[in-house]
Amino acid sequence: MRNVWAELPKPLIYMAPMSGVTNLAYRKIVKHFGADIVFPEFVSTYALHYNSAKTIDMLRYEEVERPIIAQIFGSEPEYFREAAKMVVDMGFDGVDINFGCPAPKVAKNGGGCALLGDLPRSRAIIEATLEAVEGKVPVSVKTRVSYRDTHVREFAHLIKDLPLANLCIHGRPFEKAYVGAANLDCIKEVKQIVPFMVTASGNAHTPEAAKHTLDYTGADGVALARATFGRPWIGKQIRDYLNTGTYQEPTFAEVLDVMRLHAKFVEEMCAGYEDVQRPFIEMRKVLGWYVHGIPGASQFRAELVRVSSLDEVDTILERIRTTTTPELLHAPIAHPKSY
Ligand SMILES: Cc1cc2nc3c(=O)[nH]c(=O)nc-3n(C[C@H](O)[C@H](O)[C@H](O)COP(=O)(O)O)c2cc1C
Repeated sequence: MRNVWAELPKPLIYMAPMSGVTNLAYRKIVKHFGADIVFPEFVSTYALHYNSAKTIDMLRYEEVERPIIAQIFGSEPEYFREAAKMVVDMGFDGVDINFGCPAPKVAKNGGGCALLGDLPRSRAIIEATLEAVEGKVPVSVKTRVSYRDTHVREFAHLIKDLPLANLCIHGRPFEKAYVGAANLDCIKEVKQIVPFMVTASGNAHTPEAAKHTLDYTGADGVALARATFGRPWIGKQIRDYLNTGTYQEPTFAEVLDVMRLHAKFVEEMCAGYEDVQRPFIEMRKVLGWYVHGIPGASQFRAELVRVSSLDEVDTILERIRTTTTPELLHAPIAHPKSY
């Protein structure tokens, strides 16, 4: 078996799955700046069972993205078994199990984060998935610090004998979803409990915070999520900071170039879609993230939220370039660092 988790140099700096965000174009722009691993949006094991065309579409990827791991969610071990086999057949470099999603449509159906509160079932799901992949690809899990009364420490003790490749812990409890500071102590604690790799999610919003997360927890890597919003280069900044103690912010002109490249990836992605405008509609919010904090951003955003093609993006980018002062265009843009 090729275990990408183990093979890649440490610390891993990779992009976590994000539903509604990490589509093909988004992954390509983040990969462009060197993410170690990328993930499509999570997919439902039930939807895979019913061969949902939309779900299969979400799992389309390109060779340049490798290593790429598919994350699956659900609540029935048998559906995980089937979905894991499908993901292996599709050529993914690993299968990741979601025990972290707090969204009512997932958790209320006993999936995602709720599985942290049902330890026997979560173990049965991991065992079914491990059996299904027959050692062909690594299996990993992503979870949270806690679900109601169950702490990730109990989960770690329950699964520490299983041949998992990685456990990624988002340091916020179910009740906080995405709000407040991430708890790094739980990640540090679990790193001492399990023999396999542990990666940290929820605090790496700046290069400094990523370094602190790694130093404090002893984790094998950081999973980037919202930090990539409008900043797909954040992984490279983290790597530079870890290697040299310093990193550069891009100029606004460079940010506009990245927006153009991202829009080009979206256009290329549209070619494979029945509803050819859908990827551009998804892209509208993403384009807005790039101008966050720029003087005049609200005007640019108002235009960017209406785009439906690369030509329209080009027209707006040209207008931004010609109406922006050279001082602003060539000034480094430090992104506001708050969520
Ligand atoms: C819009 C959005 C969608 C997400 N979707 C997923 C998902 O599909 N699977 C998953 O494991 N985590 C998902 N997450 C959680 C992130 O992967 C990450 O653990 C979390 O956002 C904490 O990291 P951050 O504070 O750096 O954003 C999502 C987060 C966001 C903001």
